[in-house]
Order: sequence, then C-alpha cells, then structure tokens
Amino acid sequence: MKIDSRTFEALLEQYQHRVGQALDHWLPSDLVNPVELHKAMRYSVLAPGKRVRPVLIYATASALGINLQSVDGAAAAVEIIHAYSLIHDDLPAMDDDDLRRGRPTCHIEFDEATAILAGDALQALAFYILSHDPDMTSDGSARLKMIERLSLFSGSRGMAGGQAIDLASVGKPLNIAELETMHIHKTGALIRTCIQMAALSAKGLSDEQFNSLDSYAKAIGLSFQVQDDILDVIGDTETLGKPQGSDIKHNKPTYPSIIGLQASREKAQELHEKALQSLSIFGEEADILRYISAWFVERTH
Ligand code: IPE
Ligand code: IPE
Ligand code: MG
Ligand code: MG
Ligand code: MG
Repeated sequence: MKIDSRTFEALLEQYQHRVGQALDHWLPSDLVNPVELHKAMRYSVLAPGKRVRPVLIYATASALGINLQSVDGAAAAVEIIHAYSLIHDDLPAMDDDDLRRGRPTCHIEFDEATAILAGDALQALAFYILSHDPDMTSDGSARLKMIERLSLFSGSRGMAGGQAIDLASVGKPLNIAELETMHIHKTGALIRTCIQMAALSAKGLSDEQFNSLDSYAKAIGLSFQVQDDILDVIGDTETLGKPQGSDIKHNKPTYPSIIGLQASREKAQELHEKALQSLSIFGEEADILRYISAWFVERTH
C-alpha cells in the first residue's frame, strides 16, 4: 500500500484501537475473582501505551498480505508480555518507578504482591492466547513455532535475561558491546519476536524475505532502546508518562551515559538507515515498516 505520513498516523491509530479490542476481549473481567488481581491486570495492560509491538505485527502482516484477524492473538500476546515486563520493571526491586503511562505504577496503585502476581498471570495469559485463539493460523506447527519464539525471546535468553544484565550493570561502565548486548536482550528480543510471529503467519515466505525482515527487526529493536535512553535525558515526565531521569537517578549504563547524547543520536540514525537497507528487497508494500523505523528514532515518548 502506498502511504504518506497522514495515512501512517491513521494506520497507527487503527492498529492501536484494534489491539485494544483484542486485549479487552482476552483479559478476564474485573468482576470475576480474584477481583483485585484482575483489576491490576486490566489497569496496567489497558493503560494508554503506544502499542508499538502490536503495531509492528499488524504492519508486517499488512506488508506480507496477511489477514489482520489471524494476527490479533499474537498482537495481544506480545503486548501482554510487554505489560508484564513493565509492571515488574517498575517494582522497587528493579527500577523503583512510581509513574507509568501517565498513571501510578501497578505496585503504587495496588500493592507490591499484587503487582508481582499481575505480572505472573499476564505472562501465563499470553501463552494461553497463543495456544487458544481460534482465529490464528490453522497450521498447528506455525502456532507452535510462535509459542516457541515468544517463550524463547521473552525468557532468560531474551527479555528477562536482558533485565538481569541491566540490574547487574548498575553503576558499571559497560563497554559498547556489553551495552548493546543488554539492549538487544531486554528490548530488542521482543521486538524481533513481533516480526517473526507475523512472518510465521505468511505462506510461502522465502528465506531471503524472512532474513531481511529479521535484520530490519534487529536494527529497530536496538534503535528503540537507544531512543528510550535518549528520552530519559532530554524528555519531560509529562510527555513521557514515566519519570524522566530515572536512569540517571539509578546510575544505569545507557547510550547517552556511555557515548554521550550526540553520538547516541547518530547511533539511532545509523540504525534507522540500516533498517531501511534491510527492507531494500521489498517494494512500497513495506513502506509502513519504513515509517515505523523513522517513528522509533523521532518519537518524543
Ligand atoms: C518501554 O516500552 C520499555 C522499553 C522497552 C523501552 P514502550 O516505550 O513501548 O512503553 P509503552 O508500551 O508505550 O508504555
Ligand atoms: C525496560 O527498559 C525494558 C523492559 C521493560 C523489558 P527500561 O527500564 O529502560 O524501560 P522504561 O524506561 O522504564 O520504560
Ligand atoms: Mg529497567
Ligand atoms: Mg524502567
Ligand atoms: Mg528506559
């Protein structure tokens, strides 16, 4: 599809709305016991996040000509894993933040035990969706492969592992390779999963197409966290919806703290260009993915 920046904005909204409905559908009602736990799960997931990961799944599906209904389950599952990671990331034992998506964090609004359990239950819910959604691919082996991707990339070899590296690195002057490893795991892995899950729904995708999309995903997965680090320095709390300066306060190694702000901006730009190059075998059907890469490095929240 040929798109310009106006149609890109409209598609973003459409995808954000679409996953909002899927999330609302899969989350247990907060009238059902245990009420407090279900309230906490709905509170965190349905808060106004950017829905970057579902947007990536829908955009990849649309670039590959896949029916969006067949990836609703994957979009909801990944966003739910992401929401769980944010709830735990904000806990006092981790980043100890009190604001998320413009609202008190889960452990502030509820309590720490409820926040821990909400994260646990959300993680399980994501895999329930992937194994149950009737609208997903009828190809059982593709469904299993999606479950395998999400479990691998969100676990100790992916996102959770990256979080462990992050916590172990507080106050340490990491070198660039170590910093990149941390970012690739804590943030890049889940972003890469999105593209791979959408690609798994496509029939007849060549290895070359899959590898190009994966290389795009790796570039934007890192650029997203480089920009997140930059915004911790130059953003403002109200726009971010989370506390500006949290990394600085907690002495976290970040791109700006290791290589400086200007070099971090250049790094983000370089990664954006790399992402565009990775898509060179695709035509205008992949324009939406090109816009997403630009959004990742230009965003202010
Ligand atoms: C924040 O993710 C945590 C990172 C991995 C950088 P997002 O910036 O996608 O947060 P929401 O979902 O929009 O709140
Ligand atoms: C969080 O990184 C990554 C995950 C939640 C997996 P950050 O700690 O930088 O995210 P924010 O800045 O709190 O959103
Ligand atoms: Mg963190
Ligand atoms: Mg944090
Ligand atoms: Mg951050």
